[in-house]
Amino acid sequence: REKFQSKGILAGKHVLITAGPTREPIDPVRFFTNHSTGKMGYAIAETAVQLGAKVTLVSGPVALKHPEGADVIKIETAEEMRQAVMDHYSTADIVIKSAAVADYRPVHRHEEKMKKSEGPMSMEFERTADILKTLGQQKEHQILIGFAAETDQVEYYAKKKLQSKNADMIVANNITEEGAGFSGDTNIVTFYFKNGNKKELPLLSKKQVAEKIFEEIHQMETEPNR
Ligand code: CTP
Ligand code: CA
Repeated sequence: REKFQSKGILAGKHVLITAGPTREPIDPVRFFTNHSTGKMGYAIAETAVQLGAKVTLVSGPVALKHPEGADVIKIETAEEMRQAVMDHYSTADIVIKSAAVADYRPVHRHEEKMKKSEGPMSMEFERTADILKTLGQQKEHQILIGFAAETDQVEYYAKKKLQSKNADMIVANNITEEGAGFSGDTNIVTFYFKNGNKKELPLLSKKQVAEKIFEEIHQMETEPNR
């Protein structure tokens, strides 16, 4: 514990983090997105810098200030996020995917602003690439951490994501719980591991959750059977 808190625990490590929502354009003035604020991912980036890592933060549009000492790559769409992440994957030691990536995007992006006079409308959507799943399929030496924000059956979905994405740990939360989820400065999370273990954490600040995540990563590196 004392050793973990010493500054250089991530010295020499490259940590790749994604944060915030993505925006999928509909026309020049409209987009499809979600409620992510990026607070969890930015807290992770700030903590990784403090622990001595080289940090690449791939960020969707958020209203947060640039974490000091991190390289920030600003993107908008899921496809741009995928590209930026893949560009940095081979040199990364640890990848933490806290971004809320849009699962679907409009098939057509209208070049001109859509007019209401066009009348009742429906829109066609197509799937975006699952970035974490792609990382899991191409995993070499990297430690891969995913998130799961759920409204129900948290454990069931978290365990399923751990498997299907070949992640080393899933950080799950129930966004309907008071103090958990998108907009606040706190979160209530449970860590799920490959060996079936789980660790439930109490209500913590997002900064404290970030520190707990790196504590787990440190333990994974020292006892890799988890
Ligand atoms: N994720 C990703 N690329 C996507 C969608 C999700 O990399 N296109 C990542 C998220 O960053 C997160 C993890 O996958 O770390 C789980 O995201 P989540 O939305 O909870 O799961 P999905 O697999 O998208 O399934 P669903 O939304 O149906 O629950
Ligand atoms: Ca999703």
